[in-house]
Amino acid sequence: MTKPRVFIPHRISEKALSLLAEHCELDYRDVEEMLDEEAFFAGLQEACGLMVYSRHKITPDVLDRAPRLRIVSNVAVGYDNLDLRELTARGIMATNTPDVLTETTADLTFALLMATARRIAEADRFVKAGEWNEWLPSLMLGKDVHGAVIGIIGMGRIGEAVARRAKGFGMRILYHNRTRKTEAEQSLDAAYVSLDDLLRRSDYVVVMTPLTPETVGFIGKRELGLMKQDAILINTSRGKVVDEQALIDALMEQRIGGAGLDVFATEPVQKGNPLLSMKNVVTLPHIGSATRETREKMALKAARNMIAGLAGEKPENLLNPAVFSH
Ligand code: NAP
Ligand code: GLV
Repeated sequence: MTKPRVFIPHRISEKALSLLAEHCELDYRDVEEMLDEEAFFAGLQEACGLMVYSRHKITPDVLDRAPRLRIVSNVAVGYDNLDLRELTARGIMATNTPDVLTETTADLTFALLMATARRIAEADRFVKAGEWNEWLPSLMLGKDVHGAVIGIIGMGRIGEAVARRAKGFGMRILYHNRTRKTEAEQSLDAAYVSLDDLLRRSDYVVVMTPLTPETVGFIGKRELGLMKQDAILINTSRGKVVDEQALIDALMEQRIGGAGLDVFATEPVQKGNPLLSMKNVVTLPHIGSATRETREKMALKAARNMIAGLAGEKPENLLNPAVFSH
């Protein structure tokens, strides 16, 4: 029996590749960079399955070039890069990789919070530049993390994992979410509050919602205006959940204390972006889930989703079950 053809336009782990090879015919490109359009569309033409990272936007135009496609397996939990409605309309399954990256992304989020609060990146640059000539009492003064108030917007898998870390640091936890999380309220002593209340009371505001039509620009000028003047905004969700221009304005006018950003409205972030020259902003290149162990688990999960979908079974992480019930 012929195996279904799967197009993988980028490097993935050996284990995931071997697993896929048992069930599928692979069109695999062992490259880190994005393929050029021509090569990508050529691969798509014959593909029954496509595996992508979130840097690939799967739009109707792309799908027009994929006449045989039955499943798109996203190697990411966020799936704002997939036009889910269009995929569903065309009967194409879509899957993602939740859970396996939760703790790793929470580690990074908390590291970013700590780095921004205690000026870690700035201090490292200072020492390495040979500027540390004398110990001064007010050298690199930062902001306490322990005992401070953290406000988590989007108390999902990663939001809760961040809250667990915050509890270990003796922080007071506030959260805002579409639905209340009563279990987390009890186990983490977290208080559910309105968005405005959270913004007014938090020393650290952590944005952890997905990017959806409802959350585009969720944190804009009005919301930033409610934050304390020395509060720090941390965003590891998606850049567009925060109105980036409003954030730049708030930082320039010193209406908030700083920001830690793993994600940007445009990625890679553009070279002239004012955020890149602000000392009180720590910037990372979208590395929330970037550990060797977690990337391996994500690739394996994406591979299992792909194999199940192409075998006519329901993938564990199916995002559009309406397709499967057809
Ligand atoms: P999740 O478990 O689905 O959590 C998202 C939470 O946001 C849910 O609790 C959801 O509420 C809440 N939410 C959604 N829309 C909302 C709204 N309009 N108002 C208030 N709350 C809302 O997802 P996750 O696994 O924690 O991942 C969250 C996001 O993190 C991903 O979508 C991705 O964009 C991002 N991420 C980034 C990185 C990185 O490398 N920087 C890595 C992994 C993930 P309900 O409980 O009501 O559904
Ligand atoms: C990474 O950004 C993810 O959504 O997994």
